[in-house]
Amino acid sequence: MKQRETGTEEDRRRFLMKLSLGLGGLAAAAAGIPVLGALLAPLLEKTGQTWRTVGTLRDFEIGTTSLIKYENPNPQAWAGVTAHSAAWLRRDSEKEFLAFSVNCTHLGCPVRWEQKADLFMCPCHGGVYYRDGTVAAGPPPNSLPQYAVRVKSGQVQIRTAPIPITNITA
Ligand code: FES
Repeated sequence: MKQRETGTEEDRRRFLMKLSLGLGGLAAAAAGIPVLGALLAPLLEKTGQTWRTVGTLRDFEIGTTSLIKYENPNPQAWAGVTAHSAAWLRRDSEKEFLAFSVNCTHLGCPVRWEQKADLFMCPCHGGVYYRDGTVAAGPPPNSLPQYAVRVKSGQVQIRTAPIPITNITA
């Protein structure tokens, strides 16, 4: 009889332990799902690509590479100065333009254009890119990403996109 009571008490303890674990799991899921949703939502949002006017044909001399600034395609309300971005724009002929990301493909530092050397240089770890954006030296794993450029009614426009940093773990 005593053994039977001990068995019943043990069963009750096991049941209560399972119940508390189950309820604890439910409470954790109830609290965790909205937090997880808030963290992942920006990653799943479709980022808009739009054409931005960055100047007129007269603003860019043939043979020059200029730093142009524009607003990101999909800035968040809290973005502050990060809502603004930039690109290097080269004018090769009357209507031929190339636009390069300013961000190095190694760790995202802003590259600068060195006219005399005819190279893009990254000040962070010595990354060097040729004038066509391909890697010349240093740790960058890929060429500088390019943006589409068009001329419409005398306005030079680039199709803006999120900054494509390709290797953030190296
Ligand atoms: S961030 Fe440009 S070389 Fe490292």
